[in-house]
Amino acid sequence: MKEISITSTFTTYDTLQELSQDIQDLMNQAVEVRKNAYAPYSQFRVGAALLLDNGKIVLGSNQENAAYPSGLCAERVAIFHAGSIYPEAKILKMAITAASDTNQTTAPIPPCGSCRQSIAEYEIKQETPIEIFFMGEIGEVYKSASLKNLLPFMFDKKFL
Ligand code: THU
Repeated sequence: MKEISITSTFTTYDTLQELSQDIQDLMNQAVEVRKNAYAPYSQFRVGAALLLDNGKIVLGSNQENAAYPSGLCAERVAIFHAGSIYPEAKILKMAITAASDTNQTTAPIPPCGSCRQSIAEYEIKQETPIEIFFMGEIGEVYKSASLKNLLPFMFDKKFL
């Protein structure tokens, strides 16, 4: 018997202003698109902004449905949109922000498991890491240099 240990590393910033201007701009676009969330059931609004290697920025917000599982998270709206329009482009950076209509989110809010699996697919496809920045409405920002930190021991196509 033996144990294995997998380590994840994140960089944390006290505020968005500590980050470079390009990341602040990307996060501010995520904040803007967060307002377009269709979230009548959860009142929880998420915005995602992707910077691609062709210079384009692709945005997404969560879109809910009365049949709850038919809705989609902001991150997947954004990455599927990017994959649909710019299939050859690599995703360099992803900024995510979440805010509730009922209480202020002050902690960094990471992507859900399904979004992690979906982002992983694109990181593996493009063979370069995606930098992921995530925050609540205010407060700390966390940076992951790759999706791998968020989904260690991931399932991918090599197992098929
Ligand atoms: N949501 C996202 O958009 N991204 C996540 O990673 C977590 C959850 C959305 C889905 C749903 O519309 C609402 O937040 C509450 O779960």
